[in-house]
Amino acid sequence: MSVLVTGGLGYIGSHTCVELMNAGAEVVVVDNLYNCKKSSYDRIKALVGRDFKFYECDIRDAEGLNKIFENEDIDSVIHFAGLKAVGESVQKPLEYFDNNVNGTLVLLDVMRKHGCKKIVFSSSATVYGMNNVSPLTEDMQVGGVTNPYGRTKYMIECILQDLCVSDKEWSVCLLRYFNPIGAHKSGTMGEDPNGIPNNLMPYITQVAIGKREKLTVYGDDYDTHDGTGVRDYIHVVDLALGHLKAVEKVRGENGLFIYNLGTGIGYSVLDVVKAFEKASGVEISYQIGPRRAGDIATCYSDPGKALNELGWKAERDIEEMCEDSWRWQSQNPTGYPD
Ligand code: NAD
Ligand code: UD1
Repeated sequence: MSVLVTGGLGYIGSHTCVELMNAGAEVVVVDNLYNCKKSSYDRIKALVGRDFKFYECDIRDAEGLNKIFENEDIDSVIHFAGLKAVGESVQKPLEYFDNNVNGTLVLLDVMRKHGCKKIVFSSSATVYGMNNVSPLTEDMQVGGVTNPYGRTKYMIECILQDLCVSDKEWSVCLLRYFNPIGAHKSGTMGEDPNGIPNNLMPYITQVAIGKREKLTVYGDDYDTHDGTGVRDYIHVVDLALGHLKAVEKVRGENGLFIYNLGTGIGYSVLDVVKAFEKASGVEISYQIGPRRAGDIATCYSDPGKALNELGWKAERDIEEMCEDSWRWQSQNPTGYPD
């Protein structure tokens, strides 16, 4: 029995593939290489010491997906494939709805045709919107999202919930990620954004290697301990390990399950800058800029439900997240090779 991992050569997918295979699982990856390099496949293989199936295919290609299901013995899916840049989604809403929502519909239809009804979906803390107060719990109201990217995540959550109501054979796990950072301990896998990074940690690491001059801190007048935005950063390997528990869950039980994957601890932008400086020994130049549209002051999880029901808990602290991000970036200043 194999797990099909869509988007499995991307940042979170690649780390999840390594942990799945280290735990003895069979993995089949589908990725259209839109936001990753093929060399990510070689790095995964080198780390686990064995081969695995990779199909270069778009999840909107029903025929291509059909063939994969015909060729492989797939019993469950982890669905990472998607576009994720908030700003770009505002410029290109149709592309985002097509890729993320339509792509998921095509995938679900093909899964149903092949009697595969177990799926773990990459959702985001963004579905909690602007109005809930942290710590965020899974039973809070969702949907007050402010951009097309966030809306695709919310819409896919709704589609999957409706599917579970319509057919009791489905087993769906919605994982709401907080802020994944860090990289594999080996320094051979990590986050490799295209162009100017939108997110905090890749921006900091690019300042540290001299690729960017200075970080702009988006606002220092929030109602937080130092005025800068507070988030729940989680090590990507902890996040990956959460997926192993989620796959076990959907393999064992039918129904809908929703979990936050976070640490439950909030760090400000300046806390992260300081932690990174300590871990790397490199000083990070920064300037204070205006707030970024759509940002909230504070966002962190209550991760208790995942602990109680999945037995999962994030183990790696902010120091380790910074050390591992730095090891990846300093050993691969230009990211994955072409
Ligand atoms: P990523 O871009 O590194 O990985 C996504 C992968 O999916 C890429 O390799 C890309 O080539 C592939 N892909 C995209 N569209 C595809 C399609 N139509 N067909 C086949 N492959 C396709 O992103 P990531 O950071 O690893 O995120 C994985 C998932 O987690 C995404 O759905 C993202 O929205 C979600 N998520 C990420 C974060 C984060 O901060 N990284 C936070 C919350 C949720
Ligand atoms: C952002 C997205 C969110 C997405 C998540 C993970 C927005 C509004 N939200 O979340 O939908 O799920 O990424 O991909 O884009 N910061 C700076 N300077 C920078 C970059 C970031 O000060 O150059 C600050 C931000 O204001 C924020 C914190 O760092 O306070 C974290 O930012 P980021 O990494 O972009 O994550 P989120 O804003 O939490």
